[in-house]
Amino acid sequence: KRIIVLVSGNGSNLQAIINACQNNLINGKIVAVISNKPDVYSLMRAKQANIPSHVINHKEFATREAFDHQLQLQIEQYQPDLIVLAGYMRILTPHFVQHYSGKMLNIHPSLLPKYPGLNTHRRAMEAGDKEHGTTVHFVTDELDGGPIILQAKVPIFDNDEEQDIVERVLAQEHQIYPLVIKWFCDDRLTMINGRAYLDQTMI
Ligand code: GRF
Repeated sequence: KRIIVLVSGNGSNLQAIINACQNNLINGKIVAVISNKPDVYSLMRAKQANIPSHVINHKEFATREAFDHQLQLQIEQYQPDLIVLAGYMRILTPHFVQHYSGKMLNIHPSLLPKYPGLNTHRRAMEAGDKEHGTTVHFVTDELDGGPIILQAKVPIFDNDEEQDIVERVLAQEHQIYPLVIKWFCDDRLTMINGRAYLDQTMI
């Protein structure tokens, strides 16, 4: 399978996916990495792995639609089977999302449906939650609202700083995201009528 990874930042999840492809855990190839921000560390990781990368700077576009159109043109050059959002911090237009329906995954650092959106770790801490986590889901029109595929939980301890939780969550993300991508590339994962299925069983 041909995979495109969209990024906006550090790219530790990108790195975990690169490693899983190199180790043949994932039966697929990252054909390109695309960032909406210049100079992010993700681009260095792509370069080091000899993966083509592109920057499409959202600040150079007047509208979200114009930006997503350019993004789609760039993506289509590669004829991918799967789009992976890995720390990609732009909201995508409904047109773009529908075009890749059933072929686009996101990872979100909370136990969805709790805490869609930003600052999830802080919100979980401030709510006094004893556990937190991360969710891999298919992307649909609803922000962080698509069907859930896999979650991992982590504890929140009384003396935690926010950064402790960030790191605990990231360690889990680096386990579950490559696994879900593996399932997709092995044709085990589908989205039908807004529901996720693994091996024909509804998740
Ligand atoms: C991850 O926590 C992911 O869940 C969220 O943004 C973070 C990206 O981290 N969407 P990285 O760029 O993969 O290191």
